[in-house]
Formats: sequence, structure tokens, C-alpha cells
Amino acid sequence: MAKATRAPTPVEPVHVAIVMDGNGRWAKRRFLPRVAGHRQGVDALRRCIHACAERGIGVLSVFAFSSENWRRPRDEVSGLMDLLAKALAREVPDLQRNGVRLRFVGERANLAESLRVRLLQAEQTTEAGQRMTLNVCFNYGGRWDIAQAAAKLAATGVAVTEDALGRAMALAHVPDPDLLIRTGGEQRISNFMLWQCAYTELFFTPCLWPDFDEATLDEALAFYATRERRFGKTSEQVETPVSAR
Ligand code: IPE
Ligand code: IPE
Ligand code: MG
Repeated sequence: MAKATRAPTPVEPVHVAIVMDGNGRWAKRRFLPRVAGHRQGVDALRRCIHACAERGIGVLSVFAFSSENWRRPRDEVSGLMDLLAKALAREVPDLQRNGVRLRFVGERANLAESLRVRLLQAEQTTEAGQRMTLNVCFNYGGRWDIAQAAAKLAATGVAVTEDALGRAMALAHVPDPDLLIRTGGEQRISNFMLWQCAYTELFFTPCLWPDFDEATLDEALAFYATRERRFGKTSEQVETPVSAR
């Protein structure tokens, strides 16, 4: 039978996840406090959201604060909390106008009550957004998500299966990421989406997050377009349409 030439991987990813790393180094190079890097990081995120929406990406998930980031100096942690509250106040109307649905993914119990209220309000305000879902992973860890999903199943007596666990995850409202981008040059996952990244394509760039722009995004998307996603099958299987096998 003739060998099909159909591309096995859709050229555009549905879900892009980003570990926004390198804010501290960006600031340090300029002899600025680390929080100045985080502030620039918010600007980079705003640009990135627009660029992703323009490119038809349906889901963008960003890692903004990890379960382990509490270990940082106290003033940096409070600076980050502050920045999130301020960014929400400033950005939510624009996100709503642009059809972006905002979701916060992570443990909220140990966040300040005033911040928890703002997160909920931002989610409610943008609930009807149809163009893109933006998951802001804040006080999030991949291990936290797996453990909280397992605890939910245990509490309700549901048998632990891959499907049941997947449905109990905090990220169950979106498909697994197709492409994971990490800026800042480190080539590690740092407890991000451990469950969901099983078959995600990984793109690492030395670009520091505050410098992330459309050109770097397009570089990552071009990399993605060259990948052949096999999900455990052979190359021949994924290259040949089912009808021709
Ligand atoms: C990522 O930038 C933002 C957060 C973790 C909140 P970093 O603050 O980790 O920047 P580097 O890695 O120190 O440069
Ligand atoms: C990962 O970056 C977390 C976020 C980007 C929010 P880190 O800077 O915390 O990761 P490590 O400590 O270098 O692995
Ligand atoms: Mg870092």
C-alpha cells in the first residue's frame, strides 16, 4: 500500500505550558532587586498571552509560583504575592475583553484571604471567555496535584485508576500540554505538571523570561512542528493513516 505523506503531528499545539524562569538573573544582570525582574516578567506574560491568542493556541498554562518557592527570602515571596494582586487588578479587564478565561491552579488554603477573594473574582469575571484558557499555576506543584487527586479518590472511595486520577487533577479541565517551554536555560521540570507531561514535547531556551518575545515563541512553535509524536507507537504506524493500514 502507498505510504502516506500526511504529517502525523498537528502543526499548532492546542495546549502550551511555560515555566517562566530567569526573572532573578535578568534583574541581577542589571543590578536591580529580584522583584524588578518579576515585574518585567508580568509584562512578558502579557505579551505572550496576546501572541498565543493571535496564533490560535487554545490553552496556555504558566508556572508563576511553585510549592517550593515559599523557601525564598520573605521579601521576595511577599513581593510576588503583591505583584499577582496588582497584575490582576490591572489586567483582568483586558483579558475579559480579549475572550481569555482565567483559571488559577494550585493550593489556595495557605494564601491570604484577600488574595483568595481576588483569584475567585478574576475567574468569575472571565468565565465566559471562549478564545483561550489561561491557567496560572500559583502555589502549584505536580506532586501536590497528584496527591490531592489521590486524596479525593480515597475520600470518596473511588478506585484508583489512571482515568479516575486524571479526572481528579486540578488540571482536568484542559487536555495535556502538547508543548512545554522553559526559559532561563535550566533543563528540568522543577515539579511542574508531572502527570500531564508524560508525552509533552520539551523546548528549552536560554532566553530569560523577561526577554521572552514573539520570535522566541515562534522558535518554540517551529520546533514543535518538526516533532513526530508517537505516543509509544512506531514511526511507521503514526505516518500511515488507519484507513491505509
Ligand atoms: C522565575 O524566575 C519566577 C519564579 C520562580 C517566581 P526566578 O525568580 O526563578 O529567576 P532565576 O531563576 O533566579 O533567574
Ligand atoms: C520554577 O522555577 C518555578 C517557576 C518558574 C514558578 P524555579 O526557579 O523555582 O526552579 P528551580 O529551583 O531552579 O528548579
Ligand atoms: Mg529560577
